[in-house]
Amino acid sequence: MNTQTDIERMSRLFSEVYPYLALYITDKYGYKEGYCLDIGAGAGSLGIALAKITNLYVVSLDNDSAAIDVTIKNILFEGLAHRMMVIKTDVHDIPFPDNSFDLIVSRGSVFFWDDLPGAIKEIYRVLKPGGKIFCGGGLGSREISRRIQQVIATDPRYKNVRNNWREAPNIRDKGQNTAYFVNAIAATGLKGSVIFDCEGIWIEITK
Ligand SMILES: C[S@@+](CC[C@H](N)C(=O)[O-])C[C@H]1O[C@@H](n2cnc3c(N)ncnc32)[C@H](O)[C@@H]1O
Repeated sequence: MNTQTDIERMSRLFSEVYPYLALYITDKYGYKEGYCLDIGAGAGSLGIALAKITNLYVVSLDNDSAAIDVTIKNILFEGLAHRMMVIKTDVHDIPFPDNSFDLIVSRGSVFFWDDLPGAIKEIYRVLKPGGKIFCGGGLGSREISRRIQQVIATDPRYKNVRNNWREAPNIRDKGQNTAYFVNAIAATGLKGSVIFDCEGIWIEITK
């Protein structure tokens, strides 16, 4: 279980990643308004970065109370309460009606989902026709990735991260396991692709 301090420390370390991804996502899909869902939002950083450069209304979803508390703090700090909301729930059971969101993003969370095909189907359910799903994990650019890995490898404050990483090879290995993602999409019966970009692996689906 992560504490608020852990979550805040990680989001500071990754702080260059979110604006990079937000630009990438908006350039690629073009959404500047509408409804966006950020799943497994952690400190809310990707959703906040998207809200800052668009007029999107962003819902940050996470199943962890500490993450939700940090996200609320960050949304208030950024003055984005009028264009963001948070929801504590599980990705496998999203309490929104069908066809609610134009854009659904998630970074660094898919590796923890118990039932990836089930989660993809649930995400697809709440996606509007014509909407886009971009879910996976990545560190942005090669330079950003190198800086982050260097800090994690050497900074004593990230000893826990190093240890967790070593103790959770099943989570870590999913990041390199294309078949895991390809098979998950196939199991849903939906059309989608696995793409390698932004120093990571992503599922991309259009409804
Ligand atoms: C490594 S963190 C990534 C946080 C954030 N997206 C980021 O890029 O900094 C993974 C997040 O996914 C959340 N998470 C894991 N499993 C989940 C699930 N089944 N439903 C919703 N959130 C989940 C965790 O609570 C955690 O906040």
